Amino acid sequence: MCGIVGYIGKSQAAPIILDGLAKLEYRGYDSAGMAIFDGEKINIEKSVGRLKVLENLTRGGATMPGFSGIGHTRWATHGVPSDVNSHPHFNKNQTIAVVHNGIIENYIPLKKKMIANGYEFVSETDTEVLAHLLDYYYKGNPLEAITKVLHRVEGSYALGILFSDHPKEIYAVRKDSPLIVGQNEDGCFIASDVPAILKYTRTVTYVDNQEVVKLSADELHFYTVDEEEIQKESVTIDWDANAAEKGGYEHFMLKEIYEQPKTVTDTISPRIKDGDIVIDELNMTDEELKAVRRIHIVACGSAYHTGVTAKYILEGLCRVPVEVDVASEFRYRNPILEEGSMVIVISQSGETADTLAALREAKSRGFKVLGIVNVVGSSIAREADSVLYTWAGPEIAVATTKAYSAQLSALYLLAMKIGKVKGTISNELFASLLEDLKKLPYQIELLLGQKEKIQKFANRYVGAKDIFFIGRGIDYAISLEGSLKLKEISYVHSEAYAAGELKHGTISLIEDGTLVVAVSTQPELYQKTISNIVEVKARGAFVMAIATEDNVAMEKAADYTIYVPETNPYFANSLAIIPLQLFGYYVAVGKGCDVDKPRNLAKSVTVE
Ligand code: AGP
Repeated sequence: MCGIVGYIGKSQAAPIILDGLAKLEYRGYDSAGMAIFDGEKINIEKSVGRLKVLENLTRGGATMPGFSGIGHTRWATHGVPSDVNSHPHFNKNQTIAVVHNGIIENYIPLKKKMIANGYEFVSETDTEVLAHLLDYYYKGNPLEAITKVLHRVEGSYALGILFSDHPKEIYAVRKDSPLIVGQNEDGCFIASDVPAILKYTRTVTYVDNQEVVKLSADELHFYTVDEEEIQKESVTIDWDANAAEKGGYEHFMLKEIYEQPKTVTDTISPRIKDGDIVIDELNMTDEELKAVRRIHIVACGSAYHTGVTAKYILEGLCRVPVEVDVASEFRYRNPILEEGSMVIVISQSGETADTLAALREAKSRGFKVLGIVNVVGSSIAREADSVLYTWAGPEIAVATTKAYSAQLSALYLLAMKIGKVKGTISNELFASLLEDLKKLPYQIELLLGQKEKIQKFANRYVGAKDIFFIGRGIDYAISLEGSLKLKEISYVHSEAYAAGELKHGTISLIEDGTLVVAVSTQPELYQKTISNIVEVKARGAFVMAIATEDNVAMEKAADYTIYVPETNPYFANSLAIIPLQLFGYYVAVGKGCDVDKPRNLAKSVTVE
């Protein structure tokens, strides 16, 4: 996600900001920029591309003299990566500059109002609304203008703000997107994350939600959104620099596992409005959605597994036949695409060669393609006819977790939208689904609290040879992903099977002590899965179950059960996958594997 760095003090600001932004590169970005006050006015330099481009443009900051400034690395959400969409953004008189990390969920109505008020926009970003709103409310008092804006905007934001007629101050604001401030004898700092300023100070203060910070060269002042000054405690960071980039987590993968409540929230909440699902990006009218006769979902790896999940959900809720293909098969099997087919490709990177080829194959036959993509402006995002972005932020670890969860969330929204339009989902069921959907982030948070318990169990299987995952229906899709997570980072052989399929061969592989992970979250299949558990236990297997809390019979059936909160069975994957991600992670850690960069694997498979 985006990175913010700000500085005000006795030194030149630009080099410090560039250095801080470099420490935030791990967060992933596609453009960078700085706003520096030169004693008379604010100057902005920004460009699409790597930070090096900005460094070269400003000769390491030398062309931007000044003792205060803000900088930004942008991870595009609204508006493709481009110079004009890069941050900082100016108000019309270039007297206010702002950088932003997060999503302004109500930026479209706000933008319409600002345009009606005569404001002109130059970018496609949600952030530019903030610059013009600050201009609108600014009457000489920065704090007053900022708090008025905060009462208008919805969404998540970490902000750095400069006011040219207040050169001895810079301002920072935080809601949901992390932000810290720091101080040393030389000046004061703003940063999205510790690594950016660790070189200058280990004494930082975490800004809490709806707090505003006024920074001067030697003072930090904190205010509530009602302009009341508050006192805050600083903390001392004892991490080493490398650990700090991971926010204190040992690996990016664990950090991203823990980011899942936020990525689910960021993906669903902007699309839930007044008790309805609004997916403007679909570019399909209700009539066009109603006319969908068949859905083809094409993806690779974990993205394919979300497609398998979606088959059960779309067929269950929308009564539309769904075909799911791995892209490397789809592109060569001369697929039959009939009139009324909707093609969906799913990809975190938006660059997977097979998935891109599948998209092109479908388009060559005259079919429109919806892309469910995480990277804004990626090849698949650009070539798809419409894009439903998963706002998971950049995913650094090769093994996907938070993007997978965001993909599931996007598919839930799509299924609910189509089912509502087709009339296959009653108003009561829709309302109930919406309630369950909104609870998922909190329930994921609860499951993350079982980390120690799962780690302890995983340590017992560090030496395992074979581990099998079984499940029926959506539980089978969950098993596919649980098995992939384990094997791709721990190198332990693992396979996922439709539980009813075991007896057709694979059960011969079950030996004394073989671990079988049985996933059971689908109430109408509880008993069937228990029968399969009995089958494998009779052959010596040790069974760990991932079961919904109401699955009381599992207590006796399995040897060890991890319970997940109740939700609509269609959403169960989002919960059951959490202990499986942690299980795979801790087996890999126990084996001393390079969890973030597993052998032989790339984050994006851009070749066939
Ligand atoms: C997931 O953990 C793997 N890294 C891999 O299966 C991945 O899901 C697959 O390569 C698809 O990538 P994409 O989502 O970027 O298209």
